[in-house]
Amino acid sequence: MRANTRRRLPFALAGLAVSVAVAVPLATAPSASAAEPVTVANHTFENNDTHGWAPRADETVAVSTAVAHSGTGSLLVSGRTRTWEGPTLSVLDTMDKGVRYTLSVWVRVAAGGGSTQARLSVERRTAGTPSYDQVVGNTNVSDGAWVNLQGQYTLAHDVEFLSVYVETASGTASLHIDDFVLSYVPATPIQTDIPSVKDVLASHFPIGAAISVPQTLGEHARLLSKHFNSVTPGNALKWDATEPTEGTFRFADADAMVDFARANGMEVRGHTLVWHNQTPAWVFNDASGAPMTPTAANKALLLSRLDAHIRGVVGHHGADIATWDVVNEVIDENQADGLRRSKWYEIAGLDYIRTAFRVTREVAPGAKLYINDYNTNVPAKRDKLYNLVSQLKAEGVPIDGVGHQMHVNVDWPSVSESEAMIQKFVPLDVDQQVTEMDVSIYTNSGESFPTPPRDRLIRQAYKYRDLFDLYKRYSSELTSVTVWGLADDDTWLDTFPVVRNDAPLLFDEQLQAKPAYWGIVDPTRIEATPTATVPTSPSVVPTTSAPPTTTPPPAGSCQVTYRVVGQWPGGFQGEVRVAPGQALTSWTVGWSFANGQRISQLWSGGYTQSGATVTVTNASWNGSVPANGSVTFGFVASWTGTNAAPASFTVNGAAC
Ligand code: XIL
Repeated sequence: MRANTRRRLPFALAGLAVSVAVAVPLATAPSASAAEPVTVANHTFENNDTHGWAPRADETVAVSTAVAHSGTGSLLVSGRTRTWEGPTLSVLDTMDKGVRYTLSVWVRVAAGGGSTQARLSVERRTAGTPSYDQVVGNTNVSDGAWVNLQGQYTLAHDVEFLSVYVETASGTASLHIDDFVLSYVPATPIQTDIPSVKDVLASHFPIGAAISVPQTLGEHARLLSKHFNSVTPGNALKWDATEPTEGTFRFADADAMVDFARANGMEVRGHTLVWHNQTPAWVFNDASGAPMTPTAANKALLLSRLDAHIRGVVGHHGADIATWDVVNEVIDENQADGLRRSKWYEIAGLDYIRTAFRVTREVAPGAKLYINDYNTNVPAKRDKLYNLVSQLKAEGVPIDGVGHQMHVNVDWPSVSESEAMIQKFVPLDVDQQVTEMDVSIYTNSGESFPTPPRDRLIRQAYKYRDLFDLYKRYSSELTSVTVWGLADDDTWLDTFPVVRNDAPLLFDEQLQAKPAYWGIVDPTRIEATPTATVPTSPSVVPTTSAPPTTTPPPAGSCQVTYRVVGQWPGGFQGEVRVAPGQALTSWTVGWSFANGQRISQLWSGGYTQSGATVTVTNASWNGSVPANGSVTFGFVASWTGTNAAPASFTVNGAAC
C-alpha cells in the first residue's frame, strides 16, 4: 500500500526519460522505449508542511523560511549533536522491493555553518538487524549554495523498517533540505523473442554475469535467467561484505544470490577471498589495534585471520560455490619479482597466497581455485603472472586456474594480443576463464558522452564479436566466460576510473539487446540493431528488415535464403531471408525439415511446427514488405545425425 499518490513528474525531471526513435532496419523486435518517470513523493516544505520528515534522535526538524530552494519554505534540522543525526522520512509504505528508485534532495548548510560533507542514505531493518545503505556518498555542501544529492536505490530485502535520511561526514552544523523527489521509471519488459546467449554458447562454455541482489528481482531476474547460466556476486563475497568485523560473518546478500542461482540452474563464481581492496582495516591491525608492521608475530596473526576467514566464507557456502577467485590482483609487473606491494605482501610475503590456496583446497576439496587479475593480455603482466603460477604449481600450491578479467574497451586489446594471453598459459596445464569482461565505450579517461554514440556501440559490438570468436576457438581451454554486469543501468564503469556514463555490457539501460549482444549472438545483425539510447530522426525508417548493403532481388522473383549461422552438437542457429519479389502486407513462410530438426525458439516472427512442417508468420512490426524488399527471421533448433537445409519453401501458400 502506498501512502502517497503517484503523479507525473514536473517537466524538467520527466525530460530525463530518453525518447526513442528507431532509424535503422528492424532486424529484430524494436527496443521498447523507456517509460516516463513516476513521482512517488515530491516534498517542497511549503505552508509549514514537513511531509512526515522527523529527527533521527534528539535534534529538531521544522519548516523554515530562512532559505528555500524553490518557493519560500525548506526543512531545517538544528540542534544536532552527532554526525548521524539528520532529517529522516519513513518510506516503508512507499517503496516496493525490486523497483529501482531515484532519490533527489537539495541540501544547504544553515547560515553561518560554513561547509561540511553531507550524504544520503537508507536505513533498513530485517528481524531487528539494521543495515545502512549509502545512496549518495559524501558530497561537499556549504551555507553559500544549494547542492543536489541524487542517486538510485533498489530495496532488495524484506524489511520491517525503511527510512531515508541525510547526515554529515563530520560536524553537527544545522542543515536545510528542500525539494525531495522520489521517483522511478517503470521497467520495460525484456525481449523474449531473441535467442538466449547461454543457448548460443551452449557448446562452448557457461556464460556468466556479475550481479548484486537487485538483479535477482523483477525484470532484471527475467533477463538474467534467460541469457546467463552462471553468476558472480560482484561485491557480496568480498571481505568487507562477509566479515566486516572480526569473527562476525554476514551472508544475507550472498545467500540470496546463491539461492537464485540454485533455483535457476546456474553456476556461482566465488569472488574473492583475498584482495588488497574492500578489505576492512581491522584485518591489518595488530593485537593492540595499531597498523601492523612486518614482524613474525604480525605475520602469524594475519595468516591466522586469513585462515579463519576462508574457513568461515568457503565453509558457509560448501558445494554451492564450485569456483573461487582465491586471490585477486596480486601481480605488479613493475616489481622485479612481479608481486604487488599490498599490505598482504608487506606483512606476509608470498605466504599469504600459499596459505589462501591451501586452506581453500582443504575446506572445499572439490572446488576449482583461481588466481584472477586484470591486464593479463599485457605481455609484461602476463609473463609475471605466468612465472608466479609456474613457481607455485611447482611448489605444490593447489592452483587450478587463471582468471583473465578482460576489462577492455572498444579499441583495445587486439585479438592477437588476447590470443597470446590464452596461449601463454596452455603449457601450464591450468583451466582458464574470462572472469570480468566489459567493453568500455571510452578509450581514455578524458572522454565523456552524455549518451553512448552509435558508432561506439557498433565498435563495441565488433569487439565483443571478435573476442567471443577467439574465446570460442579456445573453448577447450576456457571453462567459463563472465561479463561484469547484467545491463548498462548498473555498471561499475559509471564511476571508474572517473564519473561518466559508460555502456559496457550486452543490454542497455532499459534491458534491451544492444549491438554488443548481436556481436555474440549473430554478428550479421550488428549494424541493424535499434539503439534505444541514441535518439535519431524517424524520417529514415526503412520499410524492410534487410541489411542496408543487401542488393534487392529483381522484381517478380521470389527468393528464400536459408543459412545455418552456427551449429553445435544437438543444436543450431538458423536464419531465413525472404525476398518475395512483390509487395506484401503480411506473410507466412512454410517449409519441411528433412532430418527431424525441431525449432525451440524463433525471433522476428511467430511459428508453429507440426512434425516436420514449419509455418512462420510475420511479427506485428515486419508484416509489410515492399516489392523490392526482404525480411529476415532467425531461430534456434535441435538436430541429430544430419542437418540438411529444407529443399523448398512456400511464401503465402505459393512455392518460392
Ligand atoms: C568492482 C565492483 O563492481 C564495484 O561495485 C566496487 O565498487 C569495486 O569493485 N576488478 C575486480 C572486481 O576484481 O572486484 C571489481 O569490482 C572490478 C575490478
